[in-house]
This record gives sequence, structure tokens and C-alpha cells, in this order.
Amino acid sequence: MKGVAHMLEKFVDRLPIMSTIQPLKITNGIPFYEVTMKESLQKLHRDLPPTRIWGYNGQFPGPTFHVFQEQPIHVLWRNELPTNHFLPIDHTVHGAGLNVPDVRTVVHLHGGSTPDTSDGYPEAWFTQGFQQLGPFFTNPVYEYPNRQAATNLWYHDHAMGITRLNIYAGLAGMYIIHDEEEQSLGLPDGPFDIPLIIQDRSFHRDGSLYYPSEPTPPVQGVIPSVIGEFFGKTNLVNGKVWPYLEVEPRMYRFRILNGANARFYRIALSNNLPFVQVGTDQGLLQGPVPVTRVLIAPAERVDVVVDFSRSSGEVITLTNDAPSSYPNGKLPNPKTTGVIMQFRVKEKLSHEEQSVIPGSLSRFETMNDHQANNQRNLLLNMRNDSYNRSIHLLNNQLWSDPITEKPRLGDVEIWSLINITNNTHPIHLHLIRFQILDRQPFDRDLYDQKGIIRPTGPQRKPKPNERGWKDTVRANPNEITRIIMKFSPYRGLFVWHCHILEHEDHEMMRPYVVVKK
Ligand code: C2O
Ligand code: CU
Ligand code: CU
Repeated sequence: MKGVAHMLEKFVDRLPIMSTIQPLKITNGIPFYEVTMKESLQKLHRDLPPTRIWGYNGQFPGPTFHVFQEQPIHVLWRNELPTNHFLPIDHTVHGAGLNVPDVRTVVHLHGGSTPDTSDGYPEAWFTQGFQQLGPFFTNPVYEYPNRQAATNLWYHDHAMGITRLNIYAGLAGMYIIHDEEEQSLGLPDGPFDIPLIIQDRSFHRDGSLYYPSEPTPPVQGVIPSVIGEFFGKTNLVNGKVWPYLEVEPRMYRFRILNGANARFYRIALSNNLPFVQVGTDQGLLQGPVPVTRVLIAPAERVDVVVDFSRSSGEVITLTNDAPSSYPNGKLPNPKTTGVIMQFRVKEKLSHEEQSVIPGSLSRFETMNDHQANNQRNLLLNMRNDSYNRSIHLLNNQLWSDPITEKPRLGDVEIWSLINITNNTHPIHLHLIRFQILDRQPFDRDLYDQKGIIRPTGPQRKPKPNERGWKDTVRANPNEITRIIMKFSPYRGLFVWHCHILEHEDHEMMRPYVVVKK
């Protein structure tokens, strides 16, 4: 029997564009927003019955925030979700035990420079109507200062032990910061500036979301069990399975987010049209970088301009050829997971093209080794848990181990991520932005035998399209990935973790604290 993915015709649904959320009121000059997490039914494909989702304001993905630099906002995040989860909770996972309510939520603005009381600490969860509160809950109204440069952030659930299920259920949306620098550039805007949230999902025939409720291979005594990584059999963009978008023969800006649990995407256009990358996770690059393929790990964002002006009348497919797991897993099926969406280029322009891609986009300093006050070696490793399941760890420590990363406010640190596993892990730090210094291969056999790290090649600078501000970095197997960052502007308790959600939920996350200088 063919699976649901093979029965769904591609490119029959128009790409949805998320609505822009408006503030309820303005209090003392600060816009006040309210967002309610709700269950609803949504059509994710023409031929699928409506799917039960959990969405911010009942929408999957949630509405898009558009904010301006230096204009803070307040958001009341409310939970009106049912008290039972419709996806399989593993109660053996830390923080998801039988002693806490099943449905817990807490919202994190990914990439936001946010005080810890509004950052969405995983144990700052709350339940429906704030009836029950996690030990780190502080306040229902979050404050986002928006002091950072123009970029594409996203907000998503971060509840301890069930983040993979809450985001899979639909709890994610875009949060776009604008500033004067970006607005002066003349990049495509208005209807020609479109966020694309790429995610993978699997479905039952009745349209409901499929997430494995039994481990494969079965784990003794734990059903359902957390799995190593989840890969869906279809791709969705902005909440539709394999949609299409009609475009004019002109330039478009696409703010692309990989919002998948575990799938990496390496995107390309079927007619080999290049993407001109203008931004990374945390903002504009110094200058535009043309690329024909772009690799995007879970939680990474790429900001690109595509020029369709010489493609009038063409039908172009956005494809994916990243293996899952990355980098050593299976290649995607070119009929299903290897396809993302379609662009249909019209014959004519509605009005004359006015956008440009300037040769210089943003001015910022490239950081270097000499700026650092401190350096840490941090292992990405594996071991087995008490049920004999393999877990990925940060520096061989569990979430509950004492805090070891305590940078001082204002310090510049280099973190060397030494990956001795077989997967690339997208490592994310809250609060700060960083630059990638370099990646260097090391002798894995020697490490496995003697525990010694010996480099086998030079330190390679990141590719030009990674030479911008980042908040999530791909740490590849058998490589040392060095990042550099300044811990500011807030003290407090934050987290760093792998953004493969099954890893994050299963111990590949650690608290860290920024302490007084
Ligand atoms: Cu995208 Cu800790 O989060
Ligand atoms: Cu984050
Ligand atoms: Cu990981």
C-alpha cells in the first residue's frame, strides 16, 4: 500500500502568507499584543481532511510579527489548549514526568536579545489559563526590547521535554525586525517580500498528524518512547503541503526558516537560478552572496533574493537534496521529500521593477581570536540512558547537572564545539549573536582510542554566506567548530542546545548563566 505522501498531488494549493498580527492597544507608547494558543482544524492540502493543529491564535504557522528596531513590545501569551496532548508524550524524558501536567507551554523568541524573565526558559511553562506554573515561571506578559538589527527571528514553544511535540503540533511563527539600514537598501518589499517556513510532516489517511508513538526498534518498557530524530514524509511551506506560488518576472525576497524538527534542507531551484543570499540568522551580510544551493539546518534562517526576471512563463521547483540524518543518512526521495514547492512565473510585470540588490548591505566588524577573554572546549557526545537509548549530550552533561557555562557580562568568549558523534548538530545559544571563526577536522580514530583531539587539517573559514551574525551553527561530525560572541546585554539564566528537537528534548540542552563582571 502506498503511503499518504505518494497520494497527495503536488502544487495544487496556493502558498499561504501568514497574516500580520496587530497590537490590541498601545500603553505608554508600547504596543501590547495578545496571542492565544488554541486547537483548531486546518486544511493542509486539498485532498487531506482538515488536520487538528495547535496554533498561536489557532493558526499554523502563527501570525507574523513585524516590529521596528528600538520599538519594544509586550506580548501576553495565553494557553487555551486542551489538557490532553494529541501527540505521544514520553514520560521518561526529563521534565515530562507524570508529576507535571501533560500540556505545558512556554514561548521563546528564537534569536531575540531578550531579558531572561521573558526568554521562555523551558521550566517557565504554564498551562491552560495559567492554572499551573512551572518552577521558573515569572510573568505572563513578555517584554521584547527589539534593540537588535533587522533580521528574521521566529517564536516557538520551548516547554521542557515536549518541545518536539508542541512545535510539531504547530506552535511556531515568524518575528521580523526591521530597521532603517535595511529599509534604505531598496530590496524587494511589500508583496515581493515573503517569509517561507519550511517543515516536514507525516499524515494518517484521516488527515491527522502522524508522529511515532512506538519506538523503532522497541525500547523495553517505554511506550511511547522519544525517538532519535523525526523525519516527515511530506514538505510544507507556511502550513501547506507542496504549495505553489505565482510570481511576476522580477526580484523577490524570501525570508526562509527551516522550522522542521530534525530535517536539514539543501535547497536549489530546478532551473539552476541562483539565490542571492543577503542575510543570515541575525541579519544582513556585509554584501550579497550568490549561491545555487543553500544548506539550512533546523532553526537556521537564510534571507535570499531570487530574480525571476529572465524566467517569464517558466515553472520552477524548489528542491531539497540534503540527506536525513545529516550528513550520513538517506537522500530524500525526489518525488516526495526532495520537493518543497513550485514557482510559476507569469509572463508580465504588474508594474516596473524598482528593487535593487546593493553591493554593500551592512557594516559590521568581523570578529577575531584576539578579542576573546575566555575560551571553552565543549564536546558534543553520545552515551546511553538508563533505558539503553542513545542520548546526545553537551560536554557529557545532563540538563540537571550543575551549571558549568557561566560567562561574565560583557566578556567575549570562543566556544570550540568538538563533535564526536556522527551527526551534524545545529547548536543554538539564547540571548547572544555570534560569528563562526572556523571549522577544523580532527582524527576521530585517535580520539576514540586515546581521547586525544589531534587536528588533521587547517582551520577553514566559514563559506561567504555564513560570514554574518548567527545564532545557530552547524557543528559537523569530526570537526571542531569555533564560534565567538560577546555575552551581553543582560545577565541571567539562559539555555544553549541542539536544535534537532528530539535531541533538545532528550538531554542535548544545558542551562547557562551570564554573571556579573
Ligand atoms: Cu529556537 Cu532554544 O530555541
Ligand atoms: Cu533561541
Ligand atoms: Cu543534535
